[in-house]
Amino acid sequence: MDYRVILIENNRLMLERLSSVIKGAAGFELAARYQQPGDALGQGAVFKPNLILLDIDDRANLQFIPSFTQTFPAAALLCISSHWNANDSSHVVRAGAKGYLIKPFTAEELGEAVDTFGKSGMAVSSDVMAFFSPKGKSGKTTLIANLALSLARKSGESVAIIDADLQFGDMAVFFNLAPQSTIVEAVRDVKFLSPITLNAYFQEVNDNLRVLCGTKKPDYAELVDIKPFNDMVRMAQSLFRYILIDLPAGFNPISVAASEIAKTTYLVAMVSGGFELQHMQRALDVFRAWPDCEQRVKTIFTRVEPCNADMQEKLGLVLGYPVAAVIPNEYLLVSAAANNGRMAMDNDPNNPLAINIARLADSIIGQRRGKVR
Ligand SMILES: Nc1ncnc2c1ncn2[C@@H]1O[C@H](COP(=O)(O)OP(=O)(O)O)[C@@H](O)[C@H]1O
Ligand SMILES: [Mg+2]
Repeated sequence: MDYRVILIENNRLMLERLSSVIKGAAGFELAARYQQPGDALGQGAVFKPNLILLDIDDRANLQFIPSFTQTFPAAALLCISSHWNANDSSHVVRAGAKGYLIKPFTAEELGEAVDTFGKSGMAVSSDVMAFFSPKGKSGKTTLIANLALSLARKSGESVAIIDADLQFGDMAVFFNLAPQSTIVEAVRDVKFLSPITLNAYFQEVNDNLRVLCGTKKPDYAELVDIKPFNDMVRMAQSLFRYILIDLPAGFNPISVAASEIAKTTYLVAMVSGGFELQHMQRALDVFRAWPDCEQRVKTIFTRVEPCNADMQEKLGLVLGYPVAAVIPNEYLLVSAAANNGRMAMDNDPNNPLAINIARLADSIIGQRRGKVR
């Protein structure tokens, strides 16, 4: 079915420009256009629109959003603006808009906007999870890849992985992806992007899971600045319900920045008979500077043997901090899966590693649903 569009744009020149884009876009028909939202509300119903594009550069138009959703319950409302602003974006979505599009837009961007926002709407609030490890080789990337698959499958909502392990990011290898664009380009370009155009920087794994891959060369890591990195994550929050960020080991500007944005930071360490507990304790001491550390920081141990509730409790006692999850030692499964680009989760869903990760996914989804209710 074609989209029957009502366009509201105060600026005469922009109105002409956008009208011709809509007329030339396959699958779209310009049903009516107005300079004033009051006119569209009064006269637009006869056109039976199913898509309304409302200019919000004119700030006064924001107050009309609820009237549009009431007057045109069968239509999706997208706000259009000449620049992206994270605060406006969450405001318009709360008021009832499905999404936000930067103008002037092309026919392709309009098509992508309705595909991306049309069904589910923009994510009103999204959970960012940062995965931090005190030292390298923690099992963190394996955990994130499998957890993201599990979250996408169980929740049916959109999930993204951001590979911010700037020097040694290997998420692309895990998923057998050959990225056209990476975190370096996304962060570099963010000031010219909107959620729709940012989405294209993420590589698709399946309908609900996308990955923003890491840098191709370690020295590109210097190209990622913190402020635009933060802006990029904030923008991604309007595309995905869950965002999992893979961080480089240890404390560095990017891991600190990501932990500050994140709702939850997972500290991940692999048990290998060394000093993992001490490393974890030292990292926790740093995070304890946050007054709400216990809510925001959770610990996970990987390669735990035997991997059961007793062991989880024992590790927690020694650590002096609760352990949120334990992941069993499954070297063969994990490496066999990595070699063929498939995930342990898919290769053997009844395996203890898959079961423990699925349990963690359930608890993350449960927290979210609990909060919404
Ligand atoms: N649960 C596990 N049990 C056994 N080996 C694991 C487990 N998770 C990861 N590994 C292995 O440990 C190594 C590092 O894992 P990886 O996920 O890349 O960790 P990191 O991202 O912290 O460097 C890999 O060789 C991987 O196959
Ligand atoms: Mg890794």
